[in-house]
Amino acid sequence: MPADSILKYIFAFCLVLSLSTAATSARAESGFSSGDTTKPAPSRNGMVVSEEKIATLVGLSVLKEGGNAVDAAVAMGFALAVTYPRAGNLGGGGFMLVHLGETGRTVAIDYREKAPLKATRSMFLDENGNVDIERSRHSVYSCGVPGTVAGLSLALEKYGTMPLEKVIAPAIKLAEEGFSVSAELRKSLLEAKERMKKSSEGMDVFFENNGEPPREGRILRQKNLAWSLKEISKNGSGAFYRGAIAKKITDYMKKEGGLITERDLASYEALIRKPVTGSYRGYSIHSMPPPSSGGVHLIQMLNILERYPLSRYGHNSARYIHILSETMKLAYADRSKHLGDPDFSPVPTEQLISKQYAKRLTNRINPQKATPSKYVKPGSPIPVGGTDTTHFTVADRFGNVVSNTYTLNFAYGSGLAVPGTGILLNNEMDDFSAKTGTPNAYGLIGGEKNSVAPGKRMLSSMTPTIVLKDEELFLATGSPGGSRIITSVLQVILNVIDHKMSIREAVAAPRVHHQWLPDILYVEKDAGKELGTKLQKKGYEVKRTGPIGSTQSVTRVNGVFHGAADSRHPGRLAQGY
Ligand code: DON
Repeated sequence: MPADSILKYIFAFCLVLSLSTAATSARAESGFSSGDTTKPAPSRNGMVVSEEKIATLVGLSVLKEGGNAVDAAVAMGFALAVTYPRAGNLGGGGFMLVHLGETGRTVAIDYREKAPLKATRSMFLDENGNVDIERSRHSVYSCGVPGTVAGLSLALEKYGTMPLEKVIAPAIKLAEEGFSVSAELRKSLLEAKERMKKSSEGMDVFFENNGEPPREGRILRQKNLAWSLKEISKNGSGAFYRGAIAKKITDYMKKEGGLITERDLASYEALIRKPVTGSYRGYSIHSMPPPSSGGVHLIQMLNILERYPLSRYGHNSARYIHILSETMKLAYADRSKHLGDPDFSPVPTEQLISKQYAKRLTNRINPQKATPSKYVKPGSPIPVGGTDTTHFTVADRFGNVVSNTYTLNFAYGSGLAVPGTGILLNNEMDDFSAKTGTPNAYGLIGGEKNSVAPGKRMLSSMTPTIVLKDEELFLATGSPGGSRIITSVLQVILNVIDHKMSIREAVAAPRVHHQWLPDILYVEKDAGKELGTKLQKKGYEVKRTGPIGSTQSVTRVNGVFHGAADSRHPGRLAQGY
């Protein structure tokens, strides 16, 4: 047996071993009541947190094998494409923030999808000039050129220590041999069934002959996805962008009249960008720069909030939420005008995250009363929930930290899968502003800077974030949730820094969300009715809502890692060693 195959064999064996030992604790975790957060033992060597148990265990086994946080994160990125197909992906895109223990540097990897070169500004407008949401969300035109395979490969090549074939091996095994279907997976497939019906590949992979998703406990095998993963294992990301997988994607696009061509795939590149950085009460904040809006507005909001004695107001008091909501409105109003792909038009990042600008904005906040959002568009709904993207966080004993959010946009993306590959395609094109002033699926309004253009990256809210204290990890977090991602991340940070909560408490505490338009303050149901009444008196239209975000976080206190997987999501697992 050649040396590399032996290595692969040993690795697969170790994985199975650690999966079965850890499965015991995974089972124990699932016994927690909803409303509880998983309780991993604090640990010194490393911590892995994700929305899906098997993926957490894959990451953990890589760390135990001597891999670093990037090796573990890349293994998880591939594994989630198998075990968490609603958001884990090869056919989507995302952002990874990496803090390097050795140099103290933090880098941002942008593997966001791009508009195909044949995309046009008006491609989502019907003959009357109205946005055709069927086209932008559910058709073959909704698919951006995928970035995930390029992004994970780049991260590993630059900052990992293990070969690609080693970190991808667990995903191949899971796809080939299958894994047990959870109640949550079955439920999400039932919900997505109507949208997936038009894809024969999707139906073949995820539904049985009677058109039903597999029952809980059945083994789900994904042979075609295993083939795709093996191609990537053998030939690197080239397999996806120029090789056998590229051929299947472009054949599918030609057959369906889609826009993604050989040239789109061959020219796709993941990029290393400089994170946006700021400070908050003595901590340094590192987050995702444009084409995500997440980092810019997170720092902008922290800058405003730093000017208020929040801890004195008390966590989730009416006064506290009033200041939070007014701050959120200001940030999301700016988002609609100033943010887009910086490679296409300049984004005034430095101005938006400056302390002086925050001071000016603070003057616009009435301390007593809600200021109505100016350009209210009645009836622009934003969907409840938010687990159609996924975030995971890994920290290792070498001081490295990875905070990664990636997505297909909706659950199972466009619902379309490429025949022969098991790969689901994203519907990220809906994140562009199809028409100025018309909200996207998350109720977000955008302008010129986020209009569709060939080769452009659509604006995102994904906010993978790392907070450092004295140049070492203090907190790393991120979340799914569309427009609610930025405000979820914000509140975890405030809960830990201002309200002195443990990471578990910080994650579990009820959240609120305001995004300027629609002019509605969303308050999680657990927050209590009385609070809603007080906020209504301050002039808010308050809507009680289901879960806001699903944050996956790690803190490090006195050299010890603490992990918190969000109790809002059933399949989660935080585990250290
Ligand atoms: O990039 C974005 O901002 C969106 N495509 C994220 C979508 C998302 O979080 C869906 N999950 N609820």
